[in-house]
Amino acid sequence: MNTFPNMKAPKSPRADKGLHGPRLSKAAFRRIAALAMREAGLSIAESKADMVRTRLARRLRALQLVDFDDYCSHVESAEGQIELGLMISALTTNVSHFFREKHHFELLKTQILPELARRPGAEPIRIWSAGCANGQEPYSIAMTLAEADLHAVRGARILATDIDPTVVEFGKAGAYPEHMLGGLSEQQRSRFLHQQEKNGQAFGVDLRSMISFRVLNLLNPWPMTGQFDVIFCRNVVIYFDMETQATLWRRFASILAPGGWLMLGHSERIHTSAEKYFGKAHVTAYRRTGELAPLNGKVR
Ligand SMILES: C[S@@+](CC[C@H](N)C(=O)[O-])C[C@H]1O[C@@H](n2cnc3c(N)ncnc32)[C@H](O)[C@@H]1O
Repeated sequence: MNTFPNMKAPKSPRADKGLHGPRLSKAAFRRIAALAMREAGLSIAESKADMVRTRLARRLRALQLVDFDDYCSHVESAEGQIELGLMISALTTNVSHFFREKHHFELLKTQILPELARRPGAEPIRIWSAGCANGQEPYSIAMTLAEADLHAVRGARILATDIDPTVVEFGKAGAYPEHMLGGLSEQQRSRFLHQQEKNGQAFGVDLRSMISFRVLNLLNPWPMTGQFDVIFCRNVVIYFDMETQATLWRRFASILAPGGWLMLGHSERIHTSAEKYFGKAHVTAYRRTGELAPLNGKVR
């Protein structure tokens, strides 16, 4: 049944569709790109129009819409806010795997955790996986902590956030089908995972309880208080424009403890404007310098 007043019934199965689904006009592409930028900071070039069309064609089918203009009007309207979230989910890439960009986990094991274990006081170690996708990144961090077996990491907490509620729920459940388990050694599989009746293999409660999964749009205010020792924000900002990235570097600096670490994806680099807050320590690994990042009344 049609739920949208301006929805048209297709005259024939092919009347409003190209060979592979509805046609995306330049105007509709621009409306979608503007919404993706406003809502999630995603910067989508016109060269990606075909990717947008393919990914959203499924959403049009689910809503029984035949035309992208009607879809745009819906997601721009007050009633279309749930669909807007689904549109952002469809446009973002959730690809990840365990121990992706392994050198960061080596650094965590050999330098960062031993250093944190030596610091005075009883503050628990806090790590944030920002843009955690299906959870492989925070579970890789949790396994590294468990393997380090340092007294100081016992009370460690990992916050795992993503804009996409579906992946956050998936990560929280902690169960992975066989094809998603690449990157784990036999030893890790037998130590941390157990076979489920359904849904493949699941992480045990020890590891799951180290991680809090939450939905969070990085562009919105951050509700967390206190400071983090390490932030993993890898393969996320690559979709953001320079201005959004620059704001994010300053915000990350404001929530990192002095000397805290920021890990980025292999093709991401901090902006020169943020070099006053960060020093480069390793490839795509930065440390917060002593200078505090002014927030100028903006959101954290
Ligand atoms: C390619 S995955 C990266 C996963 C993991 N960090 C890694 O490197 O394997 C990018 C993730 O960023 C999330 N994302 C995109 N825009 C976001 C935003 N504005 N706020 C929070 N998460 C966002 C996507 O939903 C997606 O799960």
